[in-house]
Amino acid sequence: SPCRSGARSNKRVNQKVRLNEAKVVDMIDIEDISEKAAFCRCWKSKNWPYCDGTHGEHNKECNDNVGPVVVSRKQK
Ligand code: FES
Repeated sequence: SPCRSGARSNKRVNQKVRLNEAKVVDMIDIEDISEKAAFCRCWKSKNWPYCDGTHGEHNKECNDNVGPVVVSRKQK
């Protein structure tokens, strides 16, 4: 299963995002978030750093319960 297999250490959280980098950091300008943005926390989104719903498959396969962090603006 993708929870345990793979050439990389299965202790890794990140199995696919920008594996050539020593540390994956994403800078998002808050002015570029219109109303809300959902950021991936399962590390499996194909639209990283944003959530694309892939956490649903992950949760089913791995009996996990992860989901995105949603950043939203207060109504003015
Ligand atoms: Fe990773 Fe939704 S796809 S949290």
